Amino acid sequence: MSAVSETAIETLLGNGARNQWYMICPSHFVTEKPLSLRRCGYRMVFWRDNAGAAFALEDRCPHRGVPLSCGIAMGDRISCGYHGVQVDSRGVAVRVPGAPGSKLEGSRHTKAFPLRERNGLIFAYVGDELHAEPPALELPEELTSPEFSSFPCYAEWNGDYRYVIDNVMDPMHGTFLHKQSHSMSFGDAKATFRIRETPTGFVFEKEGQRNVNFDWTEYGHSGAFWLRLEIPYPKTGGPGGNFHIVGMMTPIGPNATAIVFWRCRKVSDWQRDTWRFLYKNRLEARHWHVLEQDRLMLEQCDADANGRENLYAHDMGLVRLRRVLRNQVVEQLTALAEAGRHVA
Ligand code: FES
Ligand SMILES: [Fe+2]
Repeated sequence: MSAVSETAIETLLGNGARNQWYMICPSHFVTEKPLSLRRCGYRMVFWRDNAGAAFALEDRCPHRGVPLSCGIAMGDRISCGYHGVQVDSRGVAVRVPGAPGSKLEGSRHTKAFPLRERNGLIFAYVGDELHAEPPALELPEELTSPEFSSFPCYAEWNGDYRYVIDNVMDPMHGTFLHKQSHSMSFGDAKATFRIRETPTGFVFEKEGQRNVNFDWTEYGHSGAFWLRLEIPYPKTGGPGGNFHIVGMMTPIGPNATAIVFWRCRKVSDWQRDTWRFLYKNRLEARHWHVLEQDRLMLEQCDADANGRENLYAHDMGLVRLRRVLRNQVVEQLTALAEAGRHVA
């Protein structure tokens, strides 16, 4: 194994491990007008053709580097606003109107990001130089099974995505930060936790307390990184039993994160309609209120808040996940270094 520097590890961790799908934004953000978004250390441009297919490239013209998003979408290609170079969805400069036949014409200097649209969101594959082909994107059953009904709740927070991950890997904060909430006022304020392995990751769970409060979180990796938890619901919360939450967090930049929490329940037929009605009319506002408590807490943190911690047993889940993420990044950097390839 060749050694990789701490700086390279920290940079890649900050931008997000490579070779996986990342949630980018709600589908409706992307239209025929090019949209520039920063994600995972890249500035990306997104657009659609008039049949609705979505595309993404690095938002940088191969001619002189201006944002392609300042140009015009033309089907599956985008025409730079500066000198009209046309770059197609593979990243190939297919036309150079000012200098036909130049070396730039037909060359590929622009990174293309494969896209998928699932459950109301756009996902982009961010691969490194050794992994151009994306893996399958498999989302948790709450998002794929017809037995569930869900609402995607998208937000952008001013904080490092790793703090958002830590927050979800920390079930005990429900008992304290959210103690006034309608669904997290029950259960013991002291707890013993354990880690249980799963086929795609692990569950961090309270011993001897289930279906009382926010009692466990699961980390999974199946083409994309996701977190899952359940919160028990009182009868006033309507049909469907526990409230399931599936979350994904994507780095926007050093101090900004794109987040989606799908709010899901296992409901069908009339129960499905009741839940969807109840959610829109009563529950959604309450859930945003709870989420605001998390956002305000995390946005107040200094960038080095996690550099001076004194952790205890309840933090075992987030310590484990930090190690998993770090190991992914070290493996990726090592493979790139051994192959003599670029990092990003
Ligand atoms: S910078 Fe884009 S065409 Fe010149
Ligand atoms: Fe929370």
